[in-house]
Amino acid sequence: MYASIVTLLLLHTWTTLAKAVSVPACQATAPNSKPLTNITTAYTNVTTHPFGLAYALHDDVAFVALNDTLGVLNTSTFPPVLVHKVLLPIEYLSDSIAAKNGGILDGSTGIVLSSDGRHLLITAFSTWLIIVDVARAVLRAPDAVVGAVNGSLIAGNSAVEVAITKDDRYAFVSQENPSPLSNAKNGTIEVFELYGLKRTGGVSGRSVGYLTLGVGPVGLALSMDGRYLYATSEGPNKATTPQGTLSTIDVETLKHDPSKALLSTVIAGCGAVRVIISGDGAILWVTVRESNHVVAFDRAKLVSCPEEALLASVQVGTSPVGLVLVRNDTRILTADSNRFRSPNTTSGISVVDVQAALRGEPADLGQISSGIFPRELAVSPDGETVLMGVYGSNKIQAVDVATLP
Ligand SMILES: *[C@@H]1O[C@H](CO)[C@@H](O)[C@H](O)[C@H]1NC(C)=O
Ligand SMILES: *[C@@H]1O[C@H](CO)[C@@H](O)[C@H](O)[C@H]1NC(C)=O
Ligand SMILES: *[C@@H]1O[C@H](CO)[C@@H](O)[C@H](O)[C@H]1NC(C)=O
Ligand SMILES: *[C@@H]1O[C@H](CO)[C@@H](O)[C@H](O)[C@H]1NC(C)=O
Ligand SMILES: *[C@@H]1O[C@H](CO)[C@@H](O)[C@H](O)[C@H]1NC(C)=O
Ligand SMILES: *[C@@H]1O[C@H](CO)[C@@H](O)[C@H](O)[C@H]1NC(C)=O
Ligand SMILES: *[C@@H]1O[C@H](CO)[C@@H](O)[C@H](O)[C@H]1NC(C)=O
Ligand SMILES: *[C@@H]1O[C@H](CO)[C@@H](O)[C@H](O)[C@H]1NC(C)=O
Repeated sequence: MYASIVTLLLLHTWTTLAKAVSVPACQATAPNSKPLTNITTAYTNVTTHPFGLAYALHDDVAFVALNDTLGVLNTSTFPPVLVHKVLLPIEYLSDSIAAKNGGILDGSTGIVLSSDGRHLLITAFSTWLIIVDVARAVLRAPDAVVGAVNGSLIAGNSAVEVAITKDDRYAFVSQENPSPLSNAKNGTIEVFELYGLKRTGGVSGRSVGYLTLGVGPVGLALSMDGRYLYATSEGPNKATTPQGTLSTIDVETLKHDPSKALLSTVIAGCGAVRVIISGDGAILWVTVRESNHVVAFDRAKLVSCPEEALLASVQVGTSPVGLVLVRNDTRILTADSNRFRSPNTTSGISVVDVQAALRGEPADLGQISSGIFPRELAVSPDGETVLMGVYGSNKIQAVDVATLP
């Protein structure tokens, strides 16, 4: 309630005072911002490159995708402790394009907790959706993996993020790269129907179709009412032309007739990669990696009036990827990955003042330093801690939210 009143006031202020906002241009590196040296932060070593992160609903536990395992983090201490690793079914590793190409293997990538908190869905091995029983993983039981559903090669072979419907019956997976079976350049959103998530025991499922989106779809977010799925696409010339996009997708149509589910697409900047929704559902925030910006959209206008949907655009650090809202949506943190390892710039965590951003005023409060290639972020259920996977340093960085500016 409080949050929605604030948003209404901010939207009102924006419409009456602010100058027109435009999508950010492509930018090689971000100018260095103020180093934030007075933040309580600490690292946990993990065994390999951390990718997706998700907290459990209870139990002071979080999970992290660690290639061929799912790491279980005990978050009752600061920083957390890696207490257990669930081995994922590596017999499916041979399906992984990364393994075949001999590159760095992202065995597992995205993670999402089911709506009832009892299962984790993990995208892995390019086409697979692995289902883990949360309670069994926490108890270190040997049978924590309760399902493995394979995708269809037609939909793509580079699964990154996953979202799940409120009834825990459908999962949507971003397939960043197109199927090697087609000449298409675009990626897709693959649709999985799942059976048995509400029960204890085995989970099965099948890939039921896909929606072709722009080039390089990655970031996914479901609206709170479950009606819309939002997806980013990096765009065809992500480093040179602002053609990254944010798409609005109708969830009911996506389940049954995916190719007809796209409602609208707006330009977001160069290399749009992740999207989150404000707590009141009114604003979408998107990281645009090759613009080194985070941009805000008025969710209500994305379909009805897309040319007026852009609300704000804020300079952050170089190559931002993950982002989270903290402190009642008054701050945004971005994982400034510098993933292309440009010299003369820093990786880290930018802190953005949300109200200032929406007023069109300087909003970058500074950057917390981190290791190599920070990537994904997660906020604890009590809002007091943020965890970030530092992919290139094999570490999890914990940040005490109370010490942010
Ligand atoms: C650092 O933070 C602490 C507590 O958050 C505060 O008491 C102190 O004044 C801050 N120091 C600086 C130099 O900002
Ligand atoms: C974490 O790893 C670093 C090397 O990256 C090492 O120097 C440090 O001692 C390790 N910390 C712990 C607590 O094991
Ligand atoms: C990922 O796991 C596979 C299978 O165990 C292993 O061959 C590979 O070296 C691992 N890669 C990294 C970067 O840890
Ligand atoms: C986490 O660590 C605390 C303190 O060591 C312990 O009491 C608790 O049982 C642990 N929880 C899990 C799920 O491992
Ligand atoms: C999983 O799906 C991929 C893509 O369709 C396919 O190449 C692979 O053979 C499948 N693996 C199994 C074990 O069915
Ligand atoms: C493929 O992506 C491009 C650019 O992102 C877009 O203009 C085009 O409409 C997409 N094609 C399909 C079939 O969705
Ligand atoms: C968030 O807002 C609630 C009231 O809606 C308030 O009780 C709480 O203290 C606020 N939290 C922070 C961190 O500002
Ligand atoms: C980095 O900074 C150094 C020193 O200012 C400069 O010589 C070099 O050209 C810069 N490199 C890039 C890629 O901007």
